[in-house]
Amino acid sequence: MHDGWYQVAFSRDVRAPLTEVHLAGEPIALVRRNEGSLAAVSAWCPHRGANLCRGGLLDGDAIICPFHGVRVNLQGEGRFQARHLDVAEIGGLIFVKQPGGEDAGLMRTLQAMEKQAQFVPGFELALRAEAELVVENAFDQSHFRPVHRVENLPRFRREDHPDGAYAVSGSFTLPTSPWQKGRRGDLVDVPFRATAYSPTIVLSNLGGDHPYSMITTAMPISPTETIARLSLIMPGSPSREDCLYLLEQAKAGLMQDAFIWEGMRRPETIDPVESDAIILGFRVFSDGFRTIGQGAVAGAGIGVS
Ligand code: FES
Ligand SMILES: [Fe+2]
Repeated sequence: MHDGWYQVAFSRDVRAPLTEVHLAGEPIALVRRNEGSLAAVSAWCPHRGANLCRGGLLDGDAIICPFHGVRVNLQGEGRFQARHLDVAEIGGLIFVKQPGGEDAGLMRTLQAMEKQAQFVPGFELALRAEAELVVENAFDQSHFRPVHRVENLPRFRREDHPDGAYAVSGSFTLPTSPWQKGRRGDLVDVPFRATAYSPTIVLSNLGGDHPYSMITTAMPISPTETIARLSLIMPGSPSREDCLYLLEQAKAGLMQDAFIWEGMRRPETIDPVESDAIILGFRVFSDGFRTIGQGAVAGAGIGVS
């Protein structure tokens, strides 16, 4: 696990006062107050470790533990204090990271997009694959033609990013689609930019006459199981049909990748061809995040390796 952002849920799934999600295999309580605000705290009771989401009650600024009834304070004074994580809710997506973990400009970017575009929370898909593969995929320039049938071999260029995110740009040649609104059978060049803000979050911007963006996130459940989540960020007021079409296309694309991922062996080292340089750059970016071991969320001290 790393110390950057993870998407842990969609807002539509977090309506109750306490909702259990997981990070680094450990339970996190998402705390929804009446006024709608959201907090994320370790779900383990600081008294003797009961899971606060299993019968705990939100009472003002505290959670009453279901096991021995202590008040676990979310703020203010008191013997037992909840351990907070950083949490952000934007456009119907909920993100969590370690306190003080790496942001790489994600929140600034999403807040700016929220002012000008419409977030369309999408779908989640359980994959039998390593989480990093999902985000790394956006930087794998040589897979788009064989796996996704784009017409060209896109040549990605590394781009500078002011907040240290990992960004590349290139262009895809695609058959026109209902979204691109061209004549059937024509080809269209679509500028593409991918920006990773953590090893498990990538924002893809598709340009041209009909631009839109996608945010793809990967939540590891185990070393070989991942929940991928994908949402759209649409300029203007998109029609429901367009959104459904783009989400269906995105899901079909992920399933094309998953067919490869679920059957592959991930070697320790890669035998790189020239086009793998962009992938290797992504791995260097990912290695720049601190690795957090088991127990980190509960606050027994953050294990850094
Ligand atoms: S474990 Fe929570 S009150 Fe004892
Ligand atoms: Fe792919």
